[in-house]
Amino acid sequence: MLYIGIDLGTSAVKLLLMNEKGKIEKIVSKEYPLYFPHPGWSEQKPEDWYTQSVAGLKELLADCDKSKVAGISFGGQMHGLVILDKEDNVIRPALLWNDGRTTEETDYLNQVIGKEKLSQYTANIAFTGFTAPKILWVKNKEPENFAKIAKIMLPKDYLAYKLTGAFCTDVSDASGMLIFDVKNRCWSKEMMEICSIKEEQLAKIYESYETVGCVKPEIAAELGISDTVKVAAGAGDNAAAAVGTGTVGDGMCNISLGTSGTIFISSEKFGVDKNNALHAFAHADGHYHLMGCMLSAASCNKWWMDEIIGTKEYGQEQKKITALGENHVYFLPYLMGERSPHNDPAARGTFIGMTMDTSRADMTQAVLEGVAFALRDSFEVAKSLGIRIERTKICGGGAKSPLWKKIVANVLGIRVDMIESEEGPAMGGAMLAAVACGEYPDVVAAADQIVNIVDTIEPEPELVEKYNARYEQFRQIYPTVKELFPKIS
Ligand code: XUL
Repeated sequence: MLYIGIDLGTSAVKLLLMNEKGKIEKIVSKEYPLYFPHPGWSEQKPEDWYTQSVAGLKELLADCDKSKVAGISFGGQMHGLVILDKEDNVIRPALLWNDGRTTEETDYLNQVIGKEKLSQYTANIAFTGFTAPKILWVKNKEPENFAKIAKIMLPKDYLAYKLTGAFCTDVSDASGMLIFDVKNRCWSKEMMEICSIKEEQLAKIYESYETVGCVKPEIAAELGISDTVKVAAGAGDNAAAAVGTGTVGDGMCNISLGTSGTIFISSEKFGVDKNNALHAFAHADGHYHLMGCMLSAASCNKWWMDEIIGTKEYGQEQKKITALGENHVYFLPYLMGERSPHNDPAARGTFIGMTMDTSRADMTQAVLEGVAFALRDSFEVAKSLGIRIERTKICGGGAKSPLWKKIVANVLGIRVDMIESEEGPAMGGAMLAAVACGEYPDVVAAADQIVNIVDTIEPEPELVEKYNARYEQFRQIYPTVKELFPKIS
């Protein structure tokens, strides 16, 4: 049998075809535009997601035995607000997870409603990228659009709706809306009231590995597959990536170096960070997780390489880096503001420490290290909660760089396990589809049987010590300059 995982990312949709044993047969990627209509705003057109996903599906299935396709599922960029009117038209472009326009609404939620109540209702507080502040932004700034809303969806749920007609979401992605009672895995009545929305505008909730429907006959015919192909709810991209890397069950860790950077800790029990610096969300394996999310991770390196240095030779540039742990330049990776742990949409990217002999390689190194240091900020929060992490998996585009993985292992001082493929969310999506179709009894069993560790990067004590000292300096930079950011942005 064949299973399809669709990773609806920020720069592209990645589609993966996996067989029943978990072997990847083919991967296809299709890009779409990302719009920044104002500084700090970030939008995409849901129609582009769908068009490119269908184009990608056709390419993915071009030379396989289509009668073997049994299931489809997703990992999707989280928190995005997709709104449809009563005729199912998309009302406006989606506001994405890294959109920082909702400062006023976020402050209202955190300060007027209050963090304590938000945490009690949802296990989380408001961040500008979360969905509830976006709903309030549409209500406040585009009341004519707000009045038209019939359905509120997350990005991957728009794909599921188009493919099956099922108005559905899953527990992991719903967790990032701030309308969802994470502990009890249901919509929060209080939050619906605060956002002036009704339950019928929200999707039916499923566990990530549950079937929501089958592919509509006309779409199945277009793709050449059966209309009995099942579609499973899927997960937010981080939970899907965790499934794809075998970060399931209790106390496992995964780092994703994608457009965003996340540190994801699975947990069998529900738990909340008392300062809410880490998100407390439901996991796709039926349990829970804690997560820290940086808004710009591999995207910092991409920006530095593509836009500033003007090269596509990332590997060549990294070869010029020789002295790890000894750089005099620091970089704050806050190109889109920052979420965890600072919750500061006004924060900005910053280089500091350059001298006349600073080289291009030092700056490149500072970018890679700055991302690793910022991940360590969330890692330190997890440690302060008594969570012991000794090893992590890693995935995402940044994980293709051996040097960056080495930097992460030494900045965090933990082992980094590498698995066969870095295709976290797309792989996780395919695995969730396989579970929904009964190929595996549950998500943990699927991960046990499919995911293999092929290598491990061990932290080197001397380098860890050097990075500990440098991290102590890094962590002083943001508090020193943060008052400046709102004034200069
Ligand atoms: C997680 C988050 C990002 C997006 C990226 O909270 O906002 O990781 O899911 O697609």
